Parts: sequence; C-alpha cells; structure tokens
Amino acid sequence: MNKSTNITWHDAGITKEERREQNNHHSFVLWFTGLSGSGKSTVANAVAKALFDKNIRNYVLDGDNVRFGLNKNLGFSAEDRTENIRRIGEVSKLFVDSGQVVLTAFISPFQEDRAQVREILEGNEFLEVYVECPLEECEKRDPKGLYKKARSGEIRDFTGIDSPYESPANPELTINTSTQSVEECVQTVIEYLANRKFI
Ligand SMILES: Nc1ncnc2c1ncn2[C@@H]1O[C@H](COP(=O)(O)OP(=O)(O)OP(=O)(O)O)[C@@H](O)[C@H]1O
Ligand SMILES: [Mg+2]
Repeated sequence: MNKSTNITWHDAGITKEERREQNNHHSFVLWFTGLSGSGKSTVANAVAKALFDKNIRNYVLDGDNVRFGLNKNLGFSAEDRTENIRRIGEVSKLFVDSGQVVLTAFISPFQEDRAQVREILEGNEFLEVYVECPLEECEKRDPKGLYKKARSGEIRDFTGIDSPYESPANPELTINTSTQSVEECVQTVIEYLANRKFI
C-alpha cells in the first residue's frame, strides 16, 4: 500500500554497477536470522571486521540499535515485527544500491517477512544466513537476561518462548554457533562469499 500519490522516481546519476566497479566488490545483504542469543550480532560484527580488513565497504544494521532510532515507534507484536523487517529490508536495499555490503542482525522470526525482503532485492543480492543454535543453549547464554524475564512473564511475545520462530527452509548458509566457534563461523561466511566471487 502506498499512501503517497503524485510522486515520480528520479533516476540516480551514478548506477549501482558503477559504484560496485569503483569498490571492486559485489554489493549484497547478509541477512542473519536466528533466536535471541544465537549469536547474530556477534558473528555479523566479526564478519564485518573481516570484510573491513579486506577493504570491503560494509555496514551492520543491528536489531536493538535500529529500534532506538528509525523503528522506535515499533514494538514486538506480530504486526510491528513485520513492519520492522519491512523497513530494514528497504534500508538494506539502499545500502546495496550504494555499492556496500550490509549485514543485518535481526531475529526476523517470520518466513514470510524474510521472503518479502528477498523479493525486493535481486537474485544475487540477498543471502540468508541461518544462525542455528538450540533454544536451551540460547537460554543458557541469555546475554541480555531476556529469557529469564520471558520465563517469569515480565516480558511477553518473546521469540522461542511465547512467540514462534520459523526456521529458514532454504538459507544460502547455515552456521551452528553451538558447535562452531565465532572464528569458524566467520570463516564459513567469508569462504562462501569468496567462492561465489562476491568479494
Ligand atoms: N560460536 C559462537 N558464535 C556466536 N556467539 C557465541 C558463540 N559461542 C558463544 N557465543 C556467545 O553467545 C552470545 C550471543 O549473543 P548475541 O548478542 O550475539 O546474540 P543475538 O543473536 O544477536 O541475540 P539478540 O537477537 O538478542 O540480539 C554472546 O554472548 C556470545 O559471546
Ligand atoms: Mg543481537
């Protein structure tokens, strides 16, 4: 649904391809999805550093950080989660258009929401990375103390407790943070990108 009428697209003077050529690498989204505490932020930031050290322009969009600003008016109802992901998808698309690699670290629990983001990007621009980790292990880590609060009923609609998580059916990549170290996870991602000649 588009509320705006009388709007006209203005073509950019510099194309996405020209920006990629100048940067010397492909631009795309690494979309990390998984339970809270699975390691999305940890791995996304470690991959970002590895890319940075290779002179690959990149930026991390991280769940809570985005909710401090752009998405401060959204909560955790199913509807708000969907809008949260829609906006992140659109912002990611702008980053890809600017010739950069964007790494997103959002639980993004709904398959349909992630599919919508895939839809607005081109075929080789959306890489879904499933950050797999058993709920029991995430709950044991509980880096933000959120599982404890969810179990006691202090917070509601918490993914894995009283709100569902839909695992990706066909992710480009799966990393398992309960069996792989952070370094091994980073290595897996970097090797995948190199194999596809994206970096
Ligand atoms: N192999 C691993 N990969 C990533 N994180 C790991 C690994 N092993 C242990 N951890 C720990 O697990 C925790 C993961 O927390 P992190 O904040 O990255 O999760 P998250 O998926 O971003 O959660 P949230 O959705 O709440 O933001 C950290 O404390 C990290 O040190
Ligand atoms: Mg995080």
